[in-house]
Amino acid sequence: SPAKKVIEKLLGDRIGDYKLIVVSSAEPYTHGYYKDKITVVRGAGGLITAMEPIIKLNGGLWIAHGRGASDKEVVNEEDKIKMPPGRRQYTLKRLWITKRNLLGWYYGLCNEALWPLCHSVFERPIFRQGDWEAYTAVNQQYADAVLKEIDPDHKEKVVVWIHDYHLALVPQMLREKYPDIIVGHFWHVPWPVAEIFRIFPWDRQVLEGMLGNQLIGFSRHSHCRNFLTSVSKTLEAKVDFDNLTITYNDRVTYVRHFPISIDYQAISYASQKSKRFGKSHIKQIVTGRYEFLSFGVERIDYIKGVVERIKAIDRFLEKYPEYQERFVHINVLQPSRTILKRYEQLDQEIETLIETVNFKYATSNWQPIHVIKETQTPTELYSLYKSANLMMVTSLAESMNLVAKEYVTAGPADGALILSEQTGAADELQDALIVNPYDIEQLADTIKRALEMPKDERKQRMEKLQAAVSKNNVYQWASKFLNNLIDINSHLDLKSESGNNTPTS
Ligand code: G6P
Repeated sequence: SPAKKVIEKLLGDRIGDYKLIVVSSAEPYTHGYYKDKITVVRGAGGLITAMEPIIKLNGGLWIAHGRGASDKEVVNEEDKIKMPPGRRQYTLKRLWITKRNLLGWYYGLCNEALWPLCHSVFERPIFRQGDWEAYTAVNQQYADAVLKEIDPDHKEKVVVWIHDYHLALVPQMLREKYPDIIVGHFWHVPWPVAEIFRIFPWDRQVLEGMLGNQLIGFSRHSHCRNFLTSVSKTLEAKVDFDNLTITYNDRVTYVRHFPISIDYQAISYASQKSKRFGKSHIKQIVTGRYEFLSFGVERIDYIKGVVERIKAIDRFLEKYPEYQERFVHINVLQPSRTILKRYEQLDQEIETLIETVNFKYATSNWQPIHVIKETQTPTELYSLYKSANLMMVTSLAESMNLVAKEYVTAGPADGALILSEQTGAADELQDALIVNPYDIEQLADTIKRALEMPKDERKQRMEKLQAAVSKNNVYQWASKFLNNLIDINSHLDLKSESGNNTPTS
């Protein structure tokens, strides 16, 4: 496959010398039931898209917690199962987290404390001692699972790649047992400014946990700097802002930015095939007539700026009434973390707002906003991108946002992308229509601007956007991270052999 070739070219045989262990909260495949039969669904999200090709090639191990209703039934006595289904290219090991720990670790500390803290969208984080205890316990459970896989005689070389804010303590837990272990961490969300991170009651523990890594990756350079500042204000560490390194307890951690991406070639190819299917799919959603189709897709989450987007559509139709009965917006909204009060509230708030706006403008055969809550297959999703004249990404804060990149890849050649300046994607996609998602008036005017922009200009912008996405696909992202991690390790080895590894503070 083209993906495989890219990885082989970038990594050469290097990663073949190592056993790769990927560690994350989310699992790549979830087993469930449909009418008594066991089903399997691939997980959504950039992390899985990004990691699976690499681990397939390496034949390594992926450790994640089982969330599916029939997850337990399909694993062997070591809780392992070969993946992907039917192809047996790598191993998935599932951990079982107790309900109590799931509430404290995943729902509480991860998604009510760290998530709002890291995104800093004026959403107050909730700190509970019990959640912190569950976070520590689950991190230990993950670390123990990794340690169990490591041969104590180091005959087999291992690279451990940890993902995201759910597992900040794991690196240090691994290093306590094996000081020489090669371990890197990619943080898929922003790192907040130091003054904000400081309010986290266990800031020291999280930072010390993460400094067990040899390499920490973020999508944006500004988040690397925020992380270094947090460390310099909290720990007695030597922080080098020029070389982006931290020396703490005689150990060096490199901090680098690696903008995450998508499988450009595969999505581009698959979306071509979904072209004809699109019209019939959309007919089922929008029955009336329209001239302009606008689109949005995300999990129902307050960081995504959905409320702001709907308010802007309202203002747009009010200010420019000539677009009434001509403009429709479709939004896929995937329920997420639904047992949390804030997420349930937001779901309600969005629903009521959409009903109000639809009531205000609807005529007998037209309404401005249509919502899809069902999970879309890739073909359905690509066909929606392909039909959309306009894509709206209005996140209030995000380390990247892969949806923007997907639209650029799968959307029409003359489509327009409205993109929040608060996303990492805006660093790379400068030719989009960049907006401040909090500025409703500007957002409303930008919708008009996008629809009225000459076709040639839209095409030229789209060509530049595609060039930007294709230049940095997900395989390049993963290969760069792994190459860096392995390089750093050989460098550290050399340094310690020449006795040059003494700390300066
Ligand atoms: C974000 C996080 C991921 C997470 C995903 C889905 O992208 O960075 O780590 O897996 O959201 O959220 P969920 O809570 O359903 O895993």
